[in-house]
Amino acid sequence: MQKKTVLITGASSGMGYAATMLFAQKGWEVYAGARRVDKIPTGSGIHPVKLDVTDAVSRAAFVHAAQVEGSLDVLINNAGYGEYGPLEEVSLAHAHKQLETNLFGATELTKLVLPTMRRQRSGRIVNISSIGGDMYSSLGGWYHIAKHGLNVWSDVLDTEIRQFGLRSVIVEPGGTASSWSEIAMGSIKNNLSPNTPYQTLVDGTLKMITNVGSHSSATSEDLAKVFYRAATDQRAKRRYYYNFSDRMMARMARVHPEIFHQVVMRMSARAIR
Ligand SMILES: NC(=O)c1ccc[n+]([C@@H]2O[C@H](COP(=O)([O-])OP(=O)(O)OC[C@H]3O[C@@H](n4cnc5c(N)ncnc54)[C@H](OP(=O)(O)O)[C@@H]3O)[C@@H](O)[C@H]2O)c1
Repeated sequence: MQKKTVLITGASSGMGYAATMLFAQKGWEVYAGARRVDKIPTGSGIHPVKLDVTDAVSRAAFVHAAQVEGSLDVLINNAGYGEYGPLEEVSLAHAHKQLETNLFGATELTKLVLPTMRRQRSGRIVNISSIGGDMYSSLGGWYHIAKHGLNVWSDVLDTEIRQFGLRSVIVEPGGTASSWSEIAMGSIKNNLSPNTPYQTLVDGTLKMITNVGSHSSATSEDLAKVFYRAATDQRAKRRYYYNFSDRMMARMARVHPEIFHQVVMRMSARAIR
């Protein structure tokens, strides 16, 4: 039987790294992309490719590399980071970079694989969003905007491509051990202006993000298994979660936006106390 082919972005760290290992173990041909190509795992069935999802030439080269396999079965849009900081102080350039990486990186790569998938009349786009694609918190504005946008984009795409036998689905991880929280924390400091009026909020929030990082309920390997389910379930679901609590938190924010907003307000008030 012909081996299946998956393209995974953000394969040099965290969940993308773990997913690359898992799909390869399961016998897939894995085209694994990241800027730090030397950090991508190596092994049988793994094809590391240098990829910057914000660069059109790099995206085309990534998909072109995988096309030698003949079929493209799954694209996992996983590359991403958290651009954190008070909305008043995050520069437009940093906001652009957040959207170009977390949202347009995924949308433009998807456009490159869809013609092949449509010809095959099979294929799946697995978009790694976040419970932060339904929820939000102070200082995470641009990250949440990117993930909320990714959710809507995936849902609309799903309605457009199902006629061709294709699906677009979302995985919403909650707190997961990886480099993510360190990078998000670094970005807050990077985005603050001198004499910022938001220092107290930032200090309190940094403590909370550190707690998420050190008390993550899941490992990247746990999430890789969720990615695998999302990629291979016979009847794909619109949303995948690691556990019940992540599912409930996302649902609470969607179904009870007023209550959820009060909760976030209280957290911000606690951060500045
Ligand atoms: N960890 C969490 O708690 C959590 C929770 C919810 C959602 N998520 C989401 O899950 C996904 C994976 O995050 P993670 O936790 O595994 O974080 P991570 O360990 O920091 O990994 C992020 C990956 O994204 C890649 N990346 C970033 N910018 C890129 C670019 N321009 N081009 C190509 N690759 C790029 C990085 O590779 P290079 O730097 O080598 O390019 C790295 O491999 C992200 O979309 C994140 O937003 C994470």
